[in-house]
Amino acid sequence: MANALRLGVAGLGTVGASVVNLIAKHGNAIARKSGRGVDVTAVSARDKSRERGCDLTGLTWFTDPVEMAESDAIDVFVELIGGDNGAAEESVRAALSSGKHVVTANKALLAKHGVALAALAEEKGVCLNYEAAVAGGIPIVKTLRESMSGNEISRVYGILNGTCNYILSRMEDEGISFEDCLADAQRLGYAEADPTFDIEGNDTAHKLAILTSLAFGTKISADDIYLEGITSITTADIEAADELGYRIKLLGVAQRTETGIEQRVHPTMVPKSSAIARIDGVLNAVAVDGDFVGEIVLVGPGAGGNATASSVVADIADIARGDETPVLGMPAVDLDDYVRARMRLHEGGYYIRFSVVDRPGAFAEIAKCMADAGISLESIVQRRRAPMVSENNNSAGAQPQPVILITYETTEVAVREALETIASKGVISGAPQMIRIEKLT
Ligand SMILES: NC(=O)c1ccc[n+]([C@@H]2O[C@H](COP(=O)([O-])OP(=O)(O)OC[C@H]3O[C@@H](n4cnc5c(N)ncnc54)[C@H](OP(=O)(O)O)[C@@H]3O)[C@@H](O)[C@H]2O)c1
Repeated sequence: MANALRLGVAGLGTVGASVVNLIAKHGNAIARKSGRGVDVTAVSARDKSRERGCDLTGLTWFTDPVEMAESDAIDVFVELIGGDNGAAEESVRAALSSGKHVVTANKALLAKHGVALAALAEEKGVCLNYEAAVAGGIPIVKTLRESMSGNEISRVYGILNGTCNYILSRMEDEGISFEDCLADAQRLGYAEADPTFDIEGNDTAHKLAILTSLAFGTKISADDIYLEGITSITTADIEAADELGYRIKLLGVAQRTETGIEQRVHPTMVPKSSAIARIDGVLNAVAVDGDFVGEIVLVGPGAGGNATASSVVADIADIARGDETPVLGMPAVDLDDYVRARMRLHEGGYYIRFSVVDRPGAFAEIAKCMADAGISLESIVQRRRAPMVSENNNSAGAQPQPVILITYETTEVAVREALETIASKGVISGAPQMIRIEKLT
């Protein structure tokens, strides 16, 4: 057997400590399967005195991860620090430049610098593996890059953020508000103290940008993603979706269209009968539509130390085995430029919820505006709300009434123009809620 592969693990937090533990537990089995031993020989983190929940006895400690990346004491640099600049970026560049293989779980880094880092790895003839960067424990990178290489892919979509899926699942199951679910998710450790990055969709967007490149052979273009988070979703929307045969999920979708590739992250109505609708709680799922295989769906844990370490170590085993797959599925110089499909041209069905002022002819006005925009309605749900009653028991006046429309397939531009016209007629109160419906089988 060849000399064992010497690993330097930078970052000993949730994922790093699990990687050290996994290799301590299964290192021998990995060596038998890949034909080469894998040993953690060096580590780096900021605070040497901190208890890590893993055995660091005999390992060389580096306070500076760049120094470890350049050191002759390692063959593979495992970057588990996080962030799209600073120590993570500098150390990964240093490792690749000095001819070391790199394994990383860092979606932010790849979304921003993935093409440049892939080119650097290819120039140096080393691997840059990142299975854990998208959907944690789900092997979607390998699936797209290798297992589906015989297919032309038309769409890849998924639930890529466990925090959002946990919140939406609980809102549905227990009828509690977005704010209460978020507070619970924070208490249970499923959401960060500052959850903005998750609930506004940025985390999903980073992962989607990587999937788009792998699925369509284009340069990663994380700045070209249409983004809407889940903060505007109410229990009224979730209840209406349920009645109409849908569930609401935060999806990341990349789809080939006639004018380019759509990349979009937004709350989405999915039919209850679809596989993606049944993914609950913190689980992730990724679906890929290939022309020969049809649709495949992978489901599993998208985060957590052990699940993420499972993917990191699979990447390490590939290096031990000598597998060298181009970083983004083809040489970086051969990737096409990303051509963005305009969101205004997006085609699909729409859910629209209005608060309609309670006066004769208001709803007829709305229906006319939709018809004038060429939008056909599949269903209309109108709920009468009791009039407000003042303290002395007189009617205090009519409240706006909730009305929900489901459209047949139309365009984003038609819907937006119709909503603008409706707002100008004074027949609705507040901004309408609009949720796109994803066409799924
Ligand atoms: N957590 C997950 O479930 C998950 C899932 C998928 C992907 N990921 C990705 O995995 C990576 C690591 O995530 P994590 O959750 O393990 O993060 P974490 O728990 O915050 O750990 C980060 C580690 O990096 C170390 N570090 C920070 N700055 C450093 C520096 N300048 N020099 C050396 N070490 C430094 C920290 O050292 P100290 O401990 O001394 O402060 C800490 O050990 C991120 O890219 C993340 O996006 C995480």
